[in-house]
Amino acid sequence: MNNTGRTGIVLVVLAAAFLALALKFAAPVGPSSAMSAQISLVETQFLDTATIRKSYAELIRTKADLSDFDCYACHEKGKPPVLRFDAHQIIVVPKEHEDVVMGHGSHNRNNNCFNCHDEQNLELLQTRDGRQVKLAESPALCGSCHGPTYRDWEAGAHGRTGGYWNRAAGPIKRQICVDCHNPHRPKIPPRKPAPGPHLLHPVADVPTEGFH
Ligand code: HEC
Ligand code: HEC
Ligand code: HEC
Ligand code: HEC
Repeated sequence: MNNTGRTGIVLVVLAAAFLALALKFAAPVGPSSAMSAQISLVETQFLDTATIRKSYAELIRTKADLSDFDCYACHEKGKPPVLRFDAHQIIVVPKEHEDVVMGHGSHNRNNNCFNCHDEQNLELLQTRDGRQVKLAESPALCGSCHGPTYRDWEAGAHGRTGGYWNRAAGPIKRQICVDCHNPHRPKIPPRKPAPGPHLLHPVADVPTEGFH
């Protein structure tokens, strides 16, 4: 066989090899491929954009059950409830209010109900500068003790602002303090961070308290 004949055979073999490769690349990569099977979906709890609790204002908006806020279904008008304290001057919450677990600041600093609720009218809150505000307008109450945080919040630097950047297109929505902080124990409980897509190390279990 001469040189030209050999070159011809080599060219035919090469052409066939490239054709086979082209067909292989063109074939669709199915979900059965080993790589994609390993990447699990993100748990939906990490995609939920809702705040960690629902304020009274939000419960009114969503027409939820408001019976906890109907103070005078149980209390008598003009008769402020009497606060009870134990031997260490720590407030004793009656079992009718067992969902009110006090822990505002360390060392029971702000656990007196009437630092916030108005004893003369339980359906109102009283600010530290002597104003009465509705239960649904609690940021004014928080701001009367937490001035710097309140100013940050008003300016959009604390909390969360949603809605529209362009005010001409629609309003902004600013979450209020009690959408995130439980007024009775405002410390935010720890939460697990969402896992990255490829875990190099197992994620440690962060203990989480219940959200209320
Ligand atoms: C389901 C009935 C019920 C409702 C609704 C209710 N309370 Fe009470 N509350 C009680 C009872 C019972 C007590 C204990 C007896 C008492 O002090 O009158 C009490 C006690 C209290 C106390 C004294 C707590 C202490 O540590 O001694 C405060 C303050 C109070 N309630 C505020 C409120 C406010 C504010 C509302 C509405 C936002 C409200 N309550 C709604 C039943 C209720
Ligand atoms: C009467 C004054 C007063 C009012 C009203 C008040 N706070 Fe506080 N707050 C305090 C004090 C005092 C502390 C404890 C500071 C410390 O321990 O260093 C505190 C602590 C906190 C903390 C830190 C977490 C913690 O438990 O230490 C948060 C968050 C907070 N408050 C949120 C709020 C929110 C939200 C409101 C409104 C619903 C509010 N506060 C209303 C006085 C107040
Ligand atoms: C730091 C301020 C603050 C203190 C102190 C406080 N509260 Fe409240 N409380 C609030 C605010 C603000 C709301 C409304 C919360 C919302 O919008 O979700 C509320 C809501 C309530 C409600 C109705 C909803 C619920 O959680 O059941 C009751 C009842 C209540 N408080 C009772 C009490 C009692 C009893 C005490 C004392 C042991 C107390 N609060 C101490 C600020 C306070
Ligand atoms: C969108 C949720 C959100 C809103 C709304 C919000 N906060 Fe906070 N706040 C947080 C988080 C998260 C932290 C950090 C908690 C931590 O480190 O434990 C925090 C921390 C705080 C602290 C602790 C001290 C500090 O500044 O670091 C205070 C006090 C406080 N907030 C008060 C308020 C008040 C008052 C308002 C309303 C005027 C408000 N927050 C609104 C989520 C919120």
